[in-house]
Amino acid sequence: MTSLLVTGGAGFIGSNFVHWALQHTDASVVVLDALTYAGNPANLAGLPRERFELVAGSVTTPGLVNELVEAADAVVHFAAESHNDNSLEGPGAFIDTNILGTYHVLQAVRQFGRRLHHISTDEVYGELALGTAERFTPESPYDPSSPYSASKAASDHLVRAWVRSFGVEATISNSSNNYGPRQHVEKFIPRQITNLIDGIRPKLYGTGENVRDWIHVDDHNAAVWEILQKGRSGETYLIGADGERSNKEVVELILQLMGHGADWYDHVNDRPGHDLRYAIDATKLREELGWEPRYTVFSEGLEDTITWYEDNEAWWRPMKAATEERYAARGQ
Ligand code: NAD
Ligand code: DAU
Repeated sequence: MTSLLVTGGAGFIGSNFVHWALQHTDASVVVLDALTYAGNPANLAGLPRERFELVAGSVTTPGLVNELVEAADAVVHFAAESHNDNSLEGPGAFIDTNILGTYHVLQAVRQFGRRLHHISTDEVYGELALGTAERFTPESPYDPSSPYSASKAASDHLVRAWVRSFGVEATISNSSNNYGPRQHVEKFIPRQITNLIDGIRPKLYGTGENVRDWIHVDDHNAAVWEILQKGRSGETYLIGADGERSNKEVVELILQLMGHGADWYDHVNDRPGHDLRYAIDATKLREELGWEPRYTVFSEGLEDTITWYEDNEAWWRPMKAATEERYAARGQ
């Protein structure tokens, strides 16, 4: 049985990965998570004790990281500050966790000779023009726009340097926008779903023409597992499922699925530096590792996600008011 250390496993994608891995593989999992505003032990409730443990602590604490890395066969590093808007308000935590935290994880896997998979984002490549067919590939130049994406770009460069200079065995994945259950209500899709449950109009930044490339979190995590098993050390794999949609299209679909008219939304202040478009070419992942997405009809994945938020109000209600207060203060 493989024993995995999953950093950031109490957050959105990490917790879905832990559930996925315990269900689909015979791995045992230790989660290291600082339980910030984005980390919730409830995300990991009910998992089998003999195969799962949650350790509360930070990837910026080297002694703890070393101890847990030594005890594991492999590390999947999700831990990060993940929200662009927060990085514009206060970049410091992004530098600490995303850059310094990754440095400590790298030093530990180097010391103990453990395999690392580093979770990153397509945002490191900057933006694509609207209305073109151009997509990101593993060869795209780095050109991050926000403090968040710059900190993730820095972490990718550290991983590449530790592979080349110290022979660390590591892979990197850069994914497009994930959606699914247990995503914080600060993020676009859960914010609009929970707004509608509360009778509030969805909020579109700027014109709403910006495009994101949506992938269901289970498809993302199945790809991560394939990379962990079969990926070549030093390689970068882009994860995406051909899910390009403008924000306006997504809001209109959510409105339709939740029984509202297509124009029942507000335009609000745009995000400074707002990237226009992301799109992933996942050919390498598909052809080299044989991965295929299962959620190929976006409206179906979105419908399941809406149902999850309707059924789990106790999960998101405690974070909703404070999140909306922060948006309101910025006219968003
Ligand atoms: P999230 O904000 O929901 O979860 C992040 C988790 O990391 C939380 O549980 C938080 O408590 C934990 N954490 C934060 N600081 C920590 C620290 N110092 N030490 C240990 N744990 C800490 O984020 P997410 O959306 O699940 O993203 C997970 C990873 O995936 C991130 O690395 C992010 O950059 C990457 N990513 C996210 C997306 C997306 O669409 N959400 C897409 C591509 C890549
Ligand atoms: O591309 C991968 C990235 O996707 C990840 O690296 C990030 O961790 C993740 O947060 C996500 O970043 P985005 O900035 O694309 O996601 P967000 O959910 O914040 O916003 C998605 C789009 O919707 C973006 O164009 C901004 C817009 N938006 C967002 C909110 C919260 C709105 O129009 N209205 C909103 O209320």
